[in-house]
Amino acid sequence: MGFTNQSQWICFALILGLGALAFQTTARTLQDESMRERHEQWMAHYGRVYEENYEKENRFKIFKENVARIESSNSDANKSYKLSANQFADLTNEEFKASRNRFKGHECSTETTSFKYENVTALPSSMDWRKKGAVTPIKDQGQCGNSWAFAAAATIEGIHQISTGNLIPLSVQELMDCAVYVDGDGKFRIEYFGCAYRLPEDAYNYTSTRGLTTQENYPYVGINETCQNQDASNYAVKIKGYEYPAPSETSLMKAVANQPVAVTIRTGGDFRFYSSGVYAGACGDLGDDVHYVAIVGYGTSDDGLDYWLIKNSWGTDWGEDGYMRFLRGTDDKEGLCLIAKDAAYPIV
Ligand SMILES: *[C@@H]1O[C@H](CO)[C@@H](O)[C@H](O)[C@H]1NC(C)=O
Ligand SMILES: *[C@@H]1O[C@H](CO)[C@@H](O)[C@H](O)[C@H]1NC(C)=O
Ligand SMILES: *[C@@H]1O[C@H](CO)[C@@H](O)[C@H](O)[C@H]1NC(C)=O
Ligand SMILES: *[C@@H]1O[C@H](CO)[C@@H](O)[C@H](O)[C@H]1NC(C)=O
Repeated sequence: MGFTNQSQWICFALILGLGALAFQTTARTLQDESMRERHEQWMAHYGRVYEENYEKENRFKIFKENVARIESSNSDANKSYKLSANQFADLTNEEFKASRNRFKGHECSTETTSFKYENVTALPSSMDWRKKGAVTPIKDQGQCGNSWAFAAAATIEGIHQISTGNLIPLSVQELMDCAVYVDGDGKFRIEYFGCAYRLPEDAYNYTSTRGLTTQENYPYVGINETCQNQDASNYAVKIKGYEYPAPSETSLMKAVANQPVAVTIRTGGDFRFYSSGVYAGACGDLGDDVHYVAIVGYGTSDDGLDYWLIKNSWGTDWGEDGYMRFLRGTDDKEGLCLIAKDAAYPIV
């Protein structure tokens, strides 16, 4: 030691300590600065504007926490999927759930004794209804809890194309505005109801009774409004009704081999940040965590993981151009996140 006395040593140690502290603080500030820059870039990309400074500060904190979570998940090389700071990156889980997910629960028993594909045995090892021309472009529900209508429309578009050869984007807004079935009297009422708790079965009942017009005819606005289609003869597609596959992944596969199917997923976890790969993340609970999607196929990834091909309604920026591959064939017979539990499909 080159120190002549103890006080010199203490002084040196103090300077070293302060220097380290200053360095650490600078590093943290720089990190914060680059995160702020990322937030700015993200805001520009998604056209996000915050009215007030405190709102921006608040959103920045949430953004930072979400990015940390996303990066930590992505750094696990063993995970079969990647996440990204997408359009939901400045929302907390609670805010996200409140703005998107809606669930009413099946009113009718889903106990199924029979469904039309139950005895199907020859199942192709993979299926992609997009390649068969039975899937319309990805739609975006916006801030409206109406995934039930998007999932139902996707499955009606699918079976209509399969049975007629015509692929027609159908009106989700008409389902939202007009498909209000009041139990008991079998009549459809006209009410402000669209962004609320509903089921794909509401859409199927409406489309079998009244028919459904095209998206072009009745465009999407994504807010509650009154029914704009009072003319019962104004429709493009009619169906006969709907069926439930038995609640197992095997039954679901039999149905999906034959047509797109609507399902619920207990989302939560990192589902909303999914970017690519085969999702095998955490699931949410019943209640607010439930989200409706259409399954438009199934297959096996290059890594040998079996998956369901999901069509979501969160725009093309989300996931794999709006789609998700979701782990299939888990131990639980109802599947990961109970994906096979509440499936339904329209019949023609
Ligand atoms: C990696 O993933 C496989 C399959 O999901 C799993 O069985 C294994 O335990 C994981 N390994 C680690 C280190 O997490
Ligand atoms: C499936 O097979 C069982 C047993 O033969 C039969 O009872 C049932 O009606 C069949 N289901 C359909 C949808 O054909
Ligand atoms: C739409 O109406 C439903 C039912 O009245 C209501 O629960 C929901 O909050 C409304 N949503 C919007 C965005 O106005
Ligand atoms: C759909 O219609 C059937 C037959 O009228 C009815 O039993 C069922 O409750 C309706 N489903 C919904 C979700 O309203």
